[in-house]
Amino acid sequence: MDESLKRVYFRGPGDGYEIVIGNGILAALEKKINDRKPDKTCIVINETVRGLHGDYLRPLVENGGSRYQYVMPDGETHKSYRDAEGLFAFMLENGFTRRSLVVAVGGGVTGDFAGYGAALYMRGIPVVQVPTTLLSMVDSSIGGKVAVNISAGKNIIGAFHQPLMVVSDTFFLKTLPPAEMRNGLTEALKHGLIGDRRSLDLFLKGDYGSITALPMVEELVYRSAVFKTSIVTQDETESGIRAVLNFGHTVGHAIESFFGYSGISHGEAVALGMKAELEASVRMGVLADNERATAVGLIDAYGLAPTGLDLNGKEIVKHMKFDKKNVAGSIRCVLLESIGKPLYNQPVDEGLMERVINEVL
Ligand SMILES: NC(=O)c1ccc[n+]([C@@H]2O[C@H](COP(=O)([O-])OP(=O)(O)OC[C@H]3O[C@@H](n4cnc5c(N)ncnc54)[C@H](O)[C@@H]3O)[C@@H](O)[C@H]2O)c1
Repeated sequence: MDESLKRVYFRGPGDGYEIVIGNGILAALEKKINDRKPDKTCIVINETVRGLHGDYLRPLVENGGSRYQYVMPDGETHKSYRDAEGLFAFMLENGFTRRSLVVAVGGGVTGDFAGYGAALYMRGIPVVQVPTTLLSMVDSSIGGKVAVNISAGKNIIGAFHQPLMVVSDTFFLKTLPPAEMRNGLTEALKHGLIGDRRSLDLFLKGDYGSITALPMVEELVYRSAVFKTSIVTQDETESGIRAVLNFGHTVGHAIESFFGYSGISHGEAVALGMKAELEASVRMGVLADNERATAVGLIDAYGLAPTGLDLNGKEIVKHMKFDKKNVAGSIRCVLLESIGKPLYNQPVDEGLMERVINEVL
């Protein structure tokens, strides 16, 4: 096995599992499959990743007659309830049983979709996550949240289904476009701002070029895995502290929804959301202005938040009130008391948030 492989152990309330991180480490997954001995393995693979990395993935995909490929078209629209029915039919037609295994190879869309399929198929079979975007390595593959979208909303139908293993192979990142790289940096920086000092230091010392190159990017993935795991272990189902991970997301989700989930990525919306929630923290007298300036300086230095968008504060606040994390129509956000000290589930006045969006974003 690769000597440079990093391991993070998730000690959940159920069986624990390993997150392995390194460059060219798919063999770690092969060993896990061989140890588990599933009767069949369904490899749910994103079509773009299959096109770019077909040769590298061939040993995984073509290993004997018990491996099946389900190719998932690109795009959030395919992370849907309807597409999940297609996956279930595929698995049933091919004789998948309760002793089968799902492997998700792709970004967060593929991981959420395949994880959802595994959580529901025959009341739940195991899933291994093989994230191929930076966002899915630092965030979505860790923590067991899986979901699909329905026309009424995003991530509405889902489950908590911890994976059997996460294999974060940074080899995939060499083909990731810069815009997607930035989406991942946003979530990693979020970890830095809500308490992961070592991730924050990587951002403070580095720049876009250095932080996205090996070995720094591997260190960033490792730091995020350690940090997110430590939070999720304390609160798997988000009844308390796990909510700190939603920093930037109350406003971010509302911005995504305002744009109808097109023309702006999740990462870009969250970067704008972090700016808004930092500003709200200052205006509510919770955060010092110099700390806000440091945090916003990092978001800008790494080019994470888009500019020149036509954002309407009043409309975006309306979308915020429908967020499933809000209580009885009031807006709740994660505010920062200082960099590294988040306060979750904080009520924020609608008028104040509207002004923040109109004046600052
Ligand atoms: N479950 C969770 O806890 C959680 C957390 C955060 C986000 N999410 C979800 O994650 C999703 C976003 O994930 P994402 O940003 O990875 O999006 P994505 O899966 O759509 O991937 C983004 C793009 O990158 C391409 N791609 C993937 N790997 C590549 C590679 N190695 N080289 C080149 N291109 C590659 C994909 O084809 C796609 O076009 C959203 O659906 C969001 O709701 C879930």
